[in-house]
Amino acid sequence: MVKLGTDINEAKRILQSGELVGIPTETVYGLAGNALNPSAVKKIFDVKERPNYNPLIVHIGEISQLKKYACQIPSVAQVLAEKFWPGPLTLLLNKQRLVPGIVTGGLDTVGIRVPNHPITLALLKTIDFPLAAPSANPFGYISPTTARHVKDQLGDKIEYILDGGPCDKGLESTIIGFADGKPILYRLGAITVERIEKVIGHPLEIQDKANHRPLGPGMLPYHYAPITNAVLTDDIYHAIAQTNVENVGLISVSTELFHPKVRVNRILSLANDLEEAGKKLYSTLRYMDNQDLDLIIIERMPDFGLGKTINDRLEKAVARKEIKSMLIDASKSY
Ligand code: TXA
Ligand code: MG
Repeated sequence: MVKLGTDINEAKRILQSGELVGIPTETVYGLAGNALNPSAVKKIFDVKERPNYNPLIVHIGEISQLKKYACQIPSVAQVLAEKFWPGPLTLLLNKQRLVPGIVTGGLDTVGIRVPNHPITLALLKTIDFPLAAPSANPFGYISPTTARHVKDQLGDKIEYILDGGPCDKGLESTIIGFADGKPILYRLGAITVERIEKVIGHPLEIQDKANHRPLGPGMLPYHYAPITNAVLTDDIYHAIAQTNVENVGLISVSTELFHPKVRVNRILSLANDLEEAGKKLYSTLRYMDNQDLDLIIIERMPDFGLGKTINDRLEKAVARKEIKSMLIDASKSY
Protein backbone atom coordinates (compact mmCIF):
# COMPACT_ATOMS: atom_id res chain seq x y z
CA MET A 1 0.00 0.00 0.00
CA VAL A 2 1.37 3.41 -0.94
CA LYS A 3 2.37 5.75 1.90
CA LEU A 4 1.87 9.51 1.93
CA GLY A 5 4.19 11.64 4.05
CA THR A 6 6.83 14.31 4.27
CA ASP A 7 9.83 12.09 4.98
CA ILE A 8 12.56 13.26 2.63
CA ASN A 9 14.95 10.52 3.78
CA GLU A 10 12.40 7.84 2.93
CA ALA A 11 11.95 9.38 -0.54
CA LYS A 12 15.72 9.52 -0.95
CA ARG A 13 16.13 5.86 0.04
CA ILE A 14 13.50 4.72 -2.47
CA LEU A 15 14.94 6.85 -5.28
CA GLN A 16 18.47 5.63 -4.57
CA SER A 17 17.25 2.06 -4.88
CA GLY A 18 16.02 2.82 -8.42
CA GLU A 19 12.32 3.01 -7.54
CA LEU A 20 9.81 5.84 -8.03
CA VAL A 21 8.31 8.47 -5.72
CA GLY A 22 5.45 10.94 -6.21
CA ILE A 23 6.75 14.47 -5.66
CA PRO A 24 5.03 17.83 -5.22
CA THR A 25 5.97 20.78 -7.40
CA GLU A 26 4.42 24.23 -7.69
CA THR A 27 2.77 23.18 -10.98
CA VAL A 28 1.47 19.60 -10.66
CA TYR A 29 2.66 16.44 -8.87
CA GLY A 30 5.42 14.52 -10.62
CA LEU A 31 6.23 10.82 -10.86
CA ALA A 32 9.96 10.92 -10.13
CA GLY A 33 12.89 8.60 -10.67
CA ASN A 34 16.69 8.92 -10.90
CA ALA A 35 17.18 10.60 -14.30
CA LEU A 36 20.65 9.05 -14.65
CA ASN A 37 19.42 5.49 -14.09
CA PRO A 38 17.84 4.10 -17.30
CA SER A 39 16.03 1.29 -15.49
CA ALA A 40 14.39 3.75 -13.07
CA VAL A 41 13.39 5.92 -16.03
CA LYS A 42 11.90 2.92 -17.80
CA LYS A 43 9.70 2.33 -14.74
CA ILE A 44 8.29 5.84 -15.15
CA PHE A 45 7.14 5.05 -18.69
CA ASP A 46 5.70 1.72 -17.53
CA VAL A 47 3.79 3.11 -14.54
CA LYS A 48 2.38 6.00 -16.59
CA GLU A 49 1.69 3.78 -19.60
CA ARG A 50 3.37 6.49 -21.62
CA PRO A 51 4.84 5.91 -25.10
CA ASN A 52 8.63 5.79 -24.91
CA TYR A 53 9.23 8.38 -27.65
CA ASN A 54 7.76 11.02 -25.40
CA PRO A 55 10.54 12.77 -23.45
CA LEU A 56 10.59 13.52 -19.72
CA ILE A 57 11.52 16.74 -17.93
CA VAL A 58 14.66 16.61 -15.78
CA HIS A 59 14.36 18.43 -12.44
CA ILE A 60 17.50 19.91 -10.89
CA GLY A 61 17.98 21.57 -7.47
CA GLU A 62 19.76 24.71 -8.59
CA ILE A 63 20.68 26.69 -11.66
CA SER A 64 24.40 26.00 -11.14
CA GLN A 65 23.78 22.33 -12.11
CA LEU A 66 22.40 23.28 -15.53
CA LYS A 67 25.73 22.90 -17.35
CA LYS A 68 26.17 19.39 -16.03
CA TYR A 69 23.18 18.19 -18.07
CA ALA A 70 22.89 20.74 -20.92
CA CYS A 71 25.37 22.32 -23.31
CA GLN A 72 25.48 25.09 -25.95
CA ILE A 73 23.14 27.12 -23.77
CA PRO A 74 21.92 30.22 -25.65
CA SER A 75 22.43 33.44 -23.68
CA VAL A 76 18.69 34.13 -23.65
CA ALA A 77 18.13 30.70 -22.06
CA GLN A 78 20.51 31.63 -19.27
CA VAL A 79 18.65 34.93 -18.79
CA LEU A 80 15.27 33.16 -18.65
CA ALA A 81 16.60 30.56 -16.18
CA GLU A 82 17.98 33.27 -13.92
CA LYS A 83 14.74 35.19 -14.07
CA PHE A 84 12.27 32.35 -13.53
CA TRP A 85 14.04 29.54 -11.60
CA PRO A 86 13.10 28.06 -9.28
CA GLY A 87 9.78 28.17 -11.09
CA PRO A 88 7.42 26.81 -13.74
CA LEU A 89 9.66 27.24 -16.78
CA THR A 90 11.12 24.26 -18.68
CA LEU A 91 13.97 24.93 -21.12
CA LEU A 92 14.71 22.56 -24.01
CA LEU A 93 18.49 22.53 -24.44
CA ASN A 94 21.10 20.34 -26.09
CA LYS A 95 21.81 17.49 -23.71
CA GLN A 96 25.10 16.41 -22.25
CA ARG A 97 26.02 12.76 -22.87
CA LEU A 98 25.46 12.03 -19.20
CA VAL A 99 21.68 12.24 -19.78
CA PRO A 100 20.47 8.81 -20.94
CA GLY A 101 18.63 8.71 -24.27
CA ILE A 102 15.62 7.05 -22.65
CA VAL A 103 14.94 10.30 -20.76
CA THR A 104 14.76 12.38 -23.95
CA GLY A 105 12.97 9.84 -26.11
CA GLY A 106 16.10 9.69 -28.27
CA LEU A 107 16.18 13.46 -28.91
CA ASP A 108 19.38 15.51 -28.64
CA THR A 109 17.61 18.03 -26.44
CA VAL A 110 16.62 17.69 -22.81
CA GLY A 111 13.86 19.55 -20.97
CA ILE A 112 15.18 20.96 -17.68
CA ARG A 113 13.76 22.99 -14.82
CA VAL A 114 14.26 23.88 -11.17
CA PRO A 115 10.88 23.30 -9.54
CA ASN A 116 9.72 25.70 -6.85
CA HIS A 117 8.48 23.60 -3.99
CA PRO A 118 10.29 23.53 -0.63
CA ILE A 119 9.99 19.76 -0.07
CA THR A 120 11.18 18.82 -3.55
CA LEU A 121 13.99 21.39 -3.46
CA ALA A 122 15.11 19.94 -0.12
CA LEU A 123 14.95 16.43 -1.62
CA LEU A 124 16.98 17.49 -4.68
CA LYS A 125 19.64 18.95 -2.37
CA THR A 126 20.11 15.65 -0.51
CA ILE A 127 20.49 13.42 -3.58
CA ASP A 128 23.36 13.48 -6.07
CA PHE A 129 21.28 12.89 -9.20
CA PRO A 130 18.52 14.87 -10.97
CA LEU A 131 14.92 13.64 -11.08
CA ALA A 132 13.14 12.73 -14.29
CA ALA A 133 9.46 13.40 -13.69
CA PRO A 134 6.39 13.65 -15.87
CA SER A 135 3.08 14.66 -14.34
CA ALA A 136 1.96 11.79 -12.09
CA ASN A 137 -1.20 10.85 -14.00
CA PRO A 138 -1.92 7.92 -16.27
CA PHE A 139 -1.14 8.94 -19.86
CA GLY A 140 -3.80 11.26 -21.27
CA TYR A 141 -5.70 11.87 -18.03
CA ILE A 142 -5.97 15.03 -15.90
CA SER A 143 -2.74 16.06 -14.08
CA PRO A 144 -2.72 15.63 -10.28
CA THR A 145 -2.57 18.70 -8.05
CA THR A 146 -2.72 16.93 -4.66
CA ALA A 147 -0.98 13.88 -3.20
CA ARG A 148 -4.42 12.28 -2.92
CA HIS A 149 -4.93 12.57 -6.70
CA VAL A 150 -1.67 10.67 -7.21
CA LYS A 151 -2.69 8.02 -4.70
CA ASP A 152 -6.09 7.57 -6.34
CA GLN A 153 -4.53 6.82 -9.72
CA LEU A 154 -1.06 5.40 -9.19
CA GLY A 155 -1.35 4.23 -5.57
CA ASP A 156 -1.00 0.55 -6.38
CA LYS A 157 2.11 1.14 -8.51
CA ILE A 158 4.38 3.22 -6.26
CA GLU A 159 5.56 2.97 -2.65
CA TYR A 160 5.67 6.56 -1.50
CA ILE A 161 4.26 10.01 -2.26
CA LEU A 162 5.79 13.11 -0.72
CA ASP A 163 2.81 15.17 0.36
CA GLY A 164 3.45 18.86 -0.22
CA GLY A 165 -0.18 20.00 -0.10
CA PRO A 166 -2.16 21.36 -3.04
CA CYS A 167 -0.01 22.73 -5.89
CA ASP A 168 0.36 26.47 -5.90
CA LYS A 169 -0.03 27.01 -9.68
CA GLY A 170 -2.09 23.98 -10.69
CA LEU A 171 -0.94 24.20 -14.34
CA GLU A 172 2.19 22.63 -15.88
CA SER A 173 5.35 24.56 -16.64
CA THR A 174 5.75 26.73 -19.71
CA ILE A 175 8.10 25.02 -22.19
CA ILE A 176 10.57 27.07 -24.25
CA GLY A 177 12.96 25.69 -26.85
CA PHE A 178 15.49 27.51 -29.04
CA ALA A 179 16.29 27.70 -32.74
CA ASP A 180 19.50 29.54 -33.64
CA GLY A 181 19.44 31.00 -30.14
CA LYS A 182 15.90 32.35 -30.55
CA PRO A 183 13.23 31.29 -28.02
CA ILE A 184 10.19 29.34 -29.24
CA LEU A 185 7.15 28.48 -27.16
CA TYR A 186 6.42 24.73 -27.15
CA ARG A 187 3.79 24.58 -24.42
CA LEU A 188 1.71 27.29 -22.78
CA GLY A 189 2.06 27.02 -19.04
CA ALA A 190 2.06 28.63 -15.62
CA ILE A 191 4.31 31.48 -16.75
CA THR A 192 2.39 33.65 -19.20
CA VAL A 193 3.59 34.52 -22.69
CA GLU A 194 3.38 38.17 -21.67
CA ARG A 195 5.89 37.65 -18.83
CA ILE A 196 8.33 35.85 -21.13
CA GLU A 197 8.01 38.56 -23.78
CA LYS A 198 8.79 41.21 -21.18
CA VAL A 199 12.10 39.47 -20.48
CA ILE A 200 13.10 38.73 -24.10
CA GLY A 201 11.92 42.12 -25.37
CA HIS A 202 10.05 40.87 -28.47
CA PRO A 203 7.03 38.73 -29.40
CA LEU A 204 7.55 35.05 -28.62
CA GLU A 205 7.51 32.73 -31.58
CA ILE A 206 5.01 29.89 -31.19
CA GLN A 207 5.78 26.37 -32.35
CA ASP A 208 3.61 25.86 -35.39
CA LYS A 209 1.77 22.65 -34.60
CA ALA A 210 0.64 22.14 -38.18
CA ASN A 211 4.21 21.88 -39.47
CA HIS A 212 5.69 19.52 -36.94
CA ARG A 213 5.10 16.00 -35.85
CA PRO A 214 3.76 16.13 -32.29
CA LEU A 215 6.68 16.05 -29.88
CA GLY A 216 4.75 14.98 -26.86
CA PRO A 217 1.33 14.51 -25.32
CA GLY A 218 1.29 18.13 -24.19
CA MET A 219 1.40 18.86 -27.91
CA LEU A 220 -1.05 16.23 -29.07
CA PRO A 221 -4.53 17.55 -29.84
CA TYR A 222 -6.07 15.65 -26.92
CA HIS A 223 -4.74 15.38 -23.40
CA TYR A 224 -5.56 16.39 -19.83
CA ALA A 225 -8.92 14.73 -20.44
CA PRO A 226 -11.76 13.62 -18.18
CA ILE A 227 -13.67 10.44 -19.02
CA THR A 228 -17.06 12.17 -19.03
CA ASN A 229 -18.10 13.92 -22.23
CA ALA A 230 -17.14 17.56 -22.07
CA VAL A 231 -17.70 20.66 -24.21
CA LEU A 232 -16.09 24.07 -24.13
CA THR A 233 -18.19 27.14 -24.83
CA ASP A 234 -18.16 30.95 -24.83
CA ASP A 235 -21.87 30.98 -24.04
CA ILE A 236 -22.93 28.72 -21.18
CA TYR A 237 -26.60 29.71 -21.44
CA HIS A 238 -26.70 28.70 -25.09
CA ALA A 239 -24.81 25.44 -24.45
CA ILE A 240 -27.24 24.44 -21.70
CA ALA A 241 -30.25 25.30 -23.83
CA GLN A 242 -28.80 23.26 -26.73
CA THR A 243 -28.01 20.04 -24.92
CA ASN A 244 -30.57 17.27 -24.81
CA VAL A 245 -29.12 15.58 -21.73
CA GLU A 246 -30.50 16.30 -18.26
CA ASN A 247 -27.59 15.52 -16.03
CA VAL A 248 -25.11 18.32 -16.63
CA GLY A 249 -22.10 19.59 -14.68
CA LEU A 250 -21.15 23.20 -15.29
CA ILE A 251 -17.72 24.72 -14.77
CA SER A 252 -18.05 28.47 -15.10
CA VAL A 253 -15.50 31.23 -14.76
CA SER A 254 -17.39 33.36 -12.24
CA THR A 255 -21.13 33.00 -12.85
CA GLU A 256 -23.38 30.94 -10.63
CA LEU A 257 -26.17 29.54 -12.76
CA PHE A 258 -29.39 27.81 -11.75
CA HIS A 259 -31.01 25.62 -14.37
CA PRO A 260 -32.98 22.37 -14.09
CA LYS A 261 -30.46 20.52 -16.29
CA VAL A 262 -27.48 21.63 -14.19
CA ARG A 263 -26.93 19.21 -11.34
CA VAL A 264 -23.55 20.55 -10.21
CA ASN A 265 -22.06 23.97 -10.79
CA ARG A 266 -18.46 24.82 -9.88
CA ILE A 267 -17.05 28.32 -10.24
CA LEU A 268 -13.33 28.70 -10.89
CA SER A 269 -12.97 32.23 -9.53
CA LEU A 270 -15.76 34.48 -8.29
CA ALA A 271 -13.32 37.39 -8.49
CA ASN A 272 -12.35 36.50 -12.09
CA ASP A 273 -8.81 35.87 -10.89
CA LEU A 274 -7.05 33.71 -13.49
CA GLU A 275 -4.42 32.48 -11.02
CA GLU A 276 -7.15 31.20 -8.75
CA ALA A 277 -8.93 29.63 -11.73
CA GLY A 278 -5.70 27.90 -12.84
CA LYS A 279 -5.07 26.55 -9.38
CA LYS A 280 -8.55 25.04 -9.18
CA LEU A 281 -8.86 23.83 -12.79
CA TYR A 282 -7.66 20.20 -12.59
CA SER A 283 -9.20 19.40 -9.21
CA THR A 284 -12.51 20.78 -10.51
CA LEU A 285 -12.31 18.65 -13.67
CA ARG A 286 -11.55 15.60 -11.52
CA TYR A 287 -14.40 16.38 -9.17
CA MET A 288 -16.82 16.68 -12.09
CA ASP A 289 -15.53 13.47 -13.62
CA ASN A 290 -16.52 11.61 -10.43
CA GLN A 291 -20.11 12.94 -10.34
CA ASP A 292 -21.60 10.48 -12.82
CA LEU A 293 -22.69 13.21 -15.20
CA ASP A 294 -23.79 12.89 -18.82
CA LEU A 295 -21.98 16.03 -19.86
CA ILE A 296 -19.61 18.64 -18.48
CA ILE A 297 -20.10 22.12 -19.94
CA ILE A 298 -17.06 24.32 -19.45
CA GLU A 299 -16.92 28.06 -19.94
CA ARG A 300 -13.95 29.38 -21.93
CA MET A 301 -11.58 31.76 -20.12
CA PRO A 302 -10.66 35.24 -21.37
CA ASP A 303 -7.93 34.74 -23.97
CA PHE A 304 -4.96 36.47 -22.34
CA GLY A 305 -2.39 35.69 -19.65
CA LEU A 306 -3.11 32.46 -17.78
CA GLY A 307 -6.50 32.38 -19.53
CA LYS A 308 -4.62 31.30 -22.69
CA THR A 309 -2.98 28.41 -20.83
CA ILE A 310 -6.25 27.31 -19.25
CA ASN A 311 -8.03 27.45 -22.63
CA ASP A 312 -5.25 25.36 -24.18
CA ARG A 313 -5.75 22.64 -21.54
CA LEU A 314 -9.53 22.81 -21.87
CA GLU A 315 -9.38 22.48 -25.65
CA LYS A 316 -7.27 19.36 -25.26
CA ALA A 317 -9.55 18.00 -22.53
CA VAL A 318 -12.64 18.22 -24.75
CA ALA A 319 -10.89 17.30 -28.02
CA ARG A 320 -10.39 13.75 -26.84
CA LYS A 321 -14.12 13.14 -27.05
CA GLU A 322 -14.49 14.80 -30.44
CA ILE A 323 -11.61 12.76 -31.84
CA LYS A 324 -12.98 9.60 -30.31
CA SER A 325 -16.41 10.16 -31.84
CA MET A 326 -14.80 11.02 -35.20
CA LEU A 327 -12.93 7.73 -35.05
CA ILE A 328 -16.08 5.84 -34.18
CA ASP A 329 -17.93 7.55 -37.06
CA ALA A 330 -15.06 6.75 -39.43
CA SER A 331 -15.01 3.10 -38.39
CA LYS A 332 -18.76 2.85 -39.03
CA SER A 333 -18.32 3.77 -42.68
CA TYR A 334 -16.08 0.73 -43.31
O1 TXA B 1 5.12 21.39 -14.72
C1 TXA B 1 5.61 20.46 -15.31
O2 TXA B 1 6.29 20.61 -16.35
C2 TXA B 1 5.40 19.06 -14.72
C3 TXA B 1 6.13 18.97 -13.39
C4 TXA B 1 6.07 17.59 -12.78
O3 TXA B 1 7.45 19.40 -13.56
N1 TXA B 1 5.85 18.07 -15.63
C5 TXA B 1 5.21 17.79 -16.79
O4 TXA B 1 5.78 16.71 -17.45
O5 TXA B 1 4.25 18.39 -17.18
P1 TXA B 1 5.04 15.95 -18.63
O6 TXA B 1 5.95 14.82 -18.96
O7 TXA B 1 3.67 15.62 -18.23
O8 TXA B 1 5.06 16.97 -19.79
C6 TXA B 1 6.31 17.35 -20.34
C7 TXA B 1 6.18 17.75 -21.77
C8 TXA B 1 5.78 16.61 -22.67
O9 TXA B 1 4.80 17.09 -23.57
C9 TXA B 1 7.08 16.29 -23.39
O10 TXA B 1 6.87 15.79 -24.67
C10 TXA B 1 7.77 17.63 -23.42
O11 TXA B 1 7.47 18.19 -22.18
N2 TXA B 1 9.23 17.51 -23.52
C11 TXA B 1 10.10 17.08 -22.59
N3 TXA B 1 11.35 17.04 -23.07
C12 TXA B 1 11.27 17.49 -24.35
C13 TXA B 1 12.22 17.65 -25.41
N4 TXA B 1 13.52 17.38 -25.24
N5 TXA B 1 11.76 18.11 -26.59
C14 TXA B 1 10.46 18.39 -26.78
N6 TXA B 1 9.51 18.23 -25.82
C15 TXA B 1 9.92 17.79 -24.63
MG1 MG C 1 1.66 15.50 -18.35
